Amino acid sequence: MTTEIARGDVKDMALAERGKVRIEWADATMPVLALIRRRFAQEKPLTGVKIAACLHVTTETANLMRTLKAGGAEVSLCASNPLSTQDDVAAALNAYYDVPTYAIKGEDRDTYYRHIDQVLDTRPNITMDDGNDLVTRIHQDRPDLVEGIFGGTEETTTGVIRLQSMQREGALTYPIIAVNEALTKHMFDNRYGTGQSTIDGLLRATNVLLAGKRAVVAGYGWCGRGVASRLSGLGANVIVTEVDPVRALEAVMDGYLVMPMAEAAKVADVIITVTGDINVLDGEDFAVMKDGVIIANTGHFNDEINIPQLEAMSQSQKVLRDFVEEFVVEGKRIFLLAEGRLLNLSAAEGHPAAVMDMSFANQSLSAEYLTRNKGSLPVGVYPVPKDIDHHIAELKLKSMGIDIDVLTEEQKRYLASWQSGT
Ligand code: ADE
Repeated sequence: MTTEIARGDVKDMALAERGKVRIEWADATMPVLALIRRRFAQEKPLTGVKIAACLHVTTETANLMRTLKAGGAEVSLCASNPLSTQDDVAAALNAYYDVPTYAIKGEDRDTYYRHIDQVLDTRPNITMDDGNDLVTRIHQDRPDLVEGIFGGTEETTTGVIRLQSMQREGALTYPIIAVNEALTKHMFDNRYGTGQSTIDGLLRATNVLLAGKRAVVAGYGWCGRGVASRLSGLGANVIVTEVDPVRALEAVMDGYLVMPMAEAAKVADVIITVTGDINVLDGEDFAVMKDGVIIANTGHFNDEINIPQLEAMSQSQKVLRDFVEEFVVEGKRIFLLAEGRLLNLSAAEGHPAAVMDMSFANQSLSAEYLTRNKGSLPVGVYPVPKDIDHHIAELKLKSMGIDIDVLTEEQKRYLASWQSGT
C-alpha cells in the first residue's frame, strides 16, 4: 500500500517504528557523525539553510539527515536509485525525524522523478546528491532554482565524473564539493564498503558458495579492488577485466588473472560489473557464457549490463526468487540479479554504518563549509578541504581507541630540510 501523507511519500507509515529502531542501531556504529551532530546541536551552523538531498534512503542516510537537522537545516530527501530505498527508514524519517521523505522501494521512473521534483519544490539552498540526478534535473528542467542555491555536494564516483563533464562543457552553475574525492570517503566506503556489501547482496540473493568459483570483476577502481579482495577472501578464483593499463597491472600484481571480457565471460561462474560505463556485458558476452552463470552490477547505474540486448536474445525469462531473474539464451541459463541495479543496495542494505560514518561526516562538514563560504566560492567542482579529511580520520581513529605516533620537532625540521644527504 502506498501512503501519500502531507509531507513525504512512502510505502507504508506502519513501518516507521521498525525503521526508527534500525536507524538507532546504525547510529551506534557512527560515532564520528554523532560527535558532529552534538556540536551542530550547540552551534547550529546550518540555521536557515534548506537542503535537498537525493541519496540512498538507508539507516545511515537517516543519521546524516538527523545531523543536518541538528545543525539547524531544513531537510527533505528523495531516493537516488529506484531500488535502494529501505521503506521502514523512509517512513521513520517522516514520522519521527521531521524529514519529508519521498521514496518507495521499486518505484517506477515517473515516480522517481516526481519524488526528485517534490524535493526540489522546497527551493533548496544546498543540493546533496548521489549520482548527479538531482543536479541534472535542476540544470535540464528547473534552472529557475539555481539563483537560490549556493552550493552542493556529490557522494559518488559516477556523480563526480558527470560534474566534471558539466564543468568542461561550461554547463555547471554553482560550486559543488566532490565528497567522493576525500580520502576518508573513497579509500574506505568505495573499497571496504562496496567490497563487503556487494558480497552481502550476492549471498542474500543467491546463497551461492563462492569457494572454488571463477568470479569476474569488471573494473578495478576503488570499488572493484574491494569486491575482488572480498571474493578472493571467500575462496573464489578472481579474474579482473580493465581498460586502464595501470589498473590492470595493479590487478595482476595484486594476484588476480587479468584478461579481456570476451575471454572471461566464457569461463565465469559469477560476473560483477563495477566500471561506471555502459554495456560492459553485451550481446557477444551473453552468447559465450556458461550455463548457470550469475551476473550482477554494483556500479551506480543499471546500464553496465545491456539488459535490453539480453532480453532480445532470450527464449524465456522468469523470476526465480527475490532479486534473481533467469534468462535462457541458446538453451543456457543466465541469472541476472537485482535487475542490473546496484546489487549491494538492492539485495542487501548497502555499506555498513561504520564506513558510512566517515562518508557522511564528510557530507555534514562539507555542508557546513559551503554555508560558511556562501557566496565566495566560484562555480566549480571542489575537493573536500584537506583539514576536514584529516580531522575525520583523527576522530575515527579516536573512536576506535587507536593512538598513533606524532612527529618530534627534530623530525619536522628534518622533513622540512634538504641539506643533509648520504
Ligand atoms: N551507499 C552505499 N551504501 C550506502 C548506505 N548504507 N547508505 C547510503 N548510501 C550508501
